Amino acid sequence: MLNFFKKKEEKKIAAFNYDLIAVDMHSHVLPGIDDGAQTVEESVYLIKKMMDVGIKKIIATPHIMVDFYRNTPETINGALEILKAELKKQNIDIEIEAAAEHYFDETFEKRVEEKKLMTMGDNYALFEYSFISPPPNAFEVIQKMMEWGSYKPILAHPERYPYMTVEEMANLRGWGCNMQLNTISLTGYYGKDVKKKAESMVDNDIVDFISSDMHHPKHAAAFKDALNYPHLEKLLFNYPLKNIMLK
Ligand SMILES: [Fe+2]
Repeated sequence: MLNFFKKKEEKKIAAFNYDLIAVDMHSHVLPGIDDGAQTVEESVYLIKKMMDVGIKKIIATPHIMVDFYRNTPETINGALEILKAELKKQNIDIEIEAAAEHYFDETFEKRVEEKKLMTMGDNYALFEYSFISPPPNAFEVIQKMMEWGSYKPILAHPERYPYMTVEEMANLRGWGCNMQLNTISLTGYYGKDVKKKAESMVDNDIVDFISSDMHHPKHAAAFKDALNYPHLEKLLFNYPLKNIMLK
């Protein structure tokens, strides 16, 4: 039995997959607290799919969004403990931590001021914009994140904001904000425009982190499929990605 599993593992390591970055730092795999996995069984399904393509460590990032998901460190850590217990029960060996994906709503600035963001690694804080329009005070708040909170900001999936140009991303990045690309954007999962913008981000060397943004099985399939795209190969083999710093 042991030999069988060992053999299988060796084969995986030799293959071309996400083990080159090892850490997935944006996902919704904690059970029942946002629009990702709803049950612990769904969580385990998604985690197994991530492990199959080489992920060694998962940093789960449930939404914190005042209008929809009023998560707190208590709700997030509670769901993490439930999931960890189930993984242990099933002998699934994966490192898993939790942070959050903070929505840039009217409560975000206050949480920055109160230093209440949930972070990963060396004080990295993941946040997302509205898909409709940019926050009017974005630059001011991002600066406050860095100067007041000593946070290292990471903007989640900038390629998905229709109003945001690659030039604007580069500008924001120049001021110290990291850019996180969803690898499934490169497959056309979110449409042609997002795919084009994602490719342009890679070609302009402005990608700092990559991740799955895993919510459900369709994302898992696209995450695997993304491995067939040349821009992802470029990111995995010849790019100064920071995912490894979260190991
Ligand atoms: Fe997300």
